[in-house]
Amino acid sequence: MPEERALITGANGLLGQKLVEVFRRESEYEIYSCDLNGKREGCMPLDITDHQRVIEIVGAFKPTVIINAAAYTNVDKAEVEREAAYKINATAVGYLADAANIFGAKLIHISTDYVFDGLKGNYTEDSKPEPINYYGKTKLAGENLLISKLTDFAILRTQVLYGFAPDVKMNFVLWVVDRLSKREGIRVVDDQVGNPTLADELAFAALKACQRDVAGVFHVSGFETVSRYEFARQIAEVFGLDASLIAPIKSDELNQTAKRPKNSSFICLNAQMKLGIAMPSVKDSLSRMKRQMKTSGVVHQSMKRQ
Ligand SMILES: NC(=O)c1ccc[n+]([C@@H]2O[C@H](COP(=O)([O-])OP(=O)(O)OC[C@H]3O[C@@H](n4cnc5c(N)ncnc54)[C@H](OP(=O)(O)O)[C@@H]3O)[C@@H](O)[C@H]2O)c1
Repeated sequence: MPEERALITGANGLLGQKLVEVFRRESEYEIYSCDLNGKREGCMPLDITDHQRVIEIVGAFKPTVIINAAAYTNVDKAEVEREAAYKINATAVGYLADAANIFGAKLIHISTDYVFDGLKGNYTEDSKPEPINYYGKTKLAGENLLISKLTDFAILRTQVLYGFAPDVKMNFVLWVVDRLSKREGIRVVDDQVGNPTLADELAFAALKACQRDVAGVFHVSGFETVSRYEFARQIAEVFGLDASLIAPIKSDELNQTAKRPKNSSFICLNAQMKLGIAMPSVKDSLSRMKRQMKTSGVVHQSMKRQ
């Protein structure tokens, strides 16, 4: 059996796909990737809410580390589908912690800035969580359950996660690029600020958390704090699209089902020091994503003209 073995859950999602890619490219880990239905090539089916199956799979592969990228991520729907959101984001995290305990694995779990109320910003790992929507509450419950069951864990909290991967669900950057490339106007809030994070960078941080064998809670996000509106304008610039199609609006005008924190920006010094990571600027990360899209043949009209 290889010395280092990583089991990745939620491998069909944006972060899950990036984890598989980064661990393959940058490490010697033997990788076991799992997704919900086993639909992605090379993935085993694993519904993390199935306690027995979690124990079976972890027992079969005896990973040295489990990285949980599976989650219920629809923030608005979580307000109504409360049971499903809680089961995936909290109860199932406890199941993974049980399995990690039984088979002696480390558990790397991904959490969110939505554990904070967003009233102050500049949150450190010591700041007091105060979620204002149900998704945030389920993610905080998942963190707490994990901490109560396991000592060998790392929780990486991230925010405004974006990136490109095959068949991935729409994220903010893909949405902005899609709409602007069709020359459709968009309205974007200028009163919600945060730190956009390229999924590739977060996946790399997760690898570092395994290799450096760190434990505890870490804030891992891009270092620049921007409003969604500013972010959209930077996306337009990097992708060569027309920024005049972007109109600033206020959160109140959006009528979103779930409340959003206004300023959930992170201080990431702890992660930078302990994981040995340096996050690039928003523009550099966007340029990296643009190159990936070009390489995959996903180009829109404006990019072709450049
Ligand atoms: N996106 C953001 O802006 C953001 C911000 C902060 C934190 N995060 C956190 O970052 C992590 C990764 O997010 P992401 O953007 O990569 O999410 P994503 O693309 O929605 O991926 C989540 C994956 O979880 C899978 N999944 C759902 N229920 C499952 C279950 N019961 N068992 C196994 N897999 C299940 C989904 O499967 P299907 O593909 O089959 O649906 C999906 O592939 C999550 O923990 C999320 O809370 C995200």
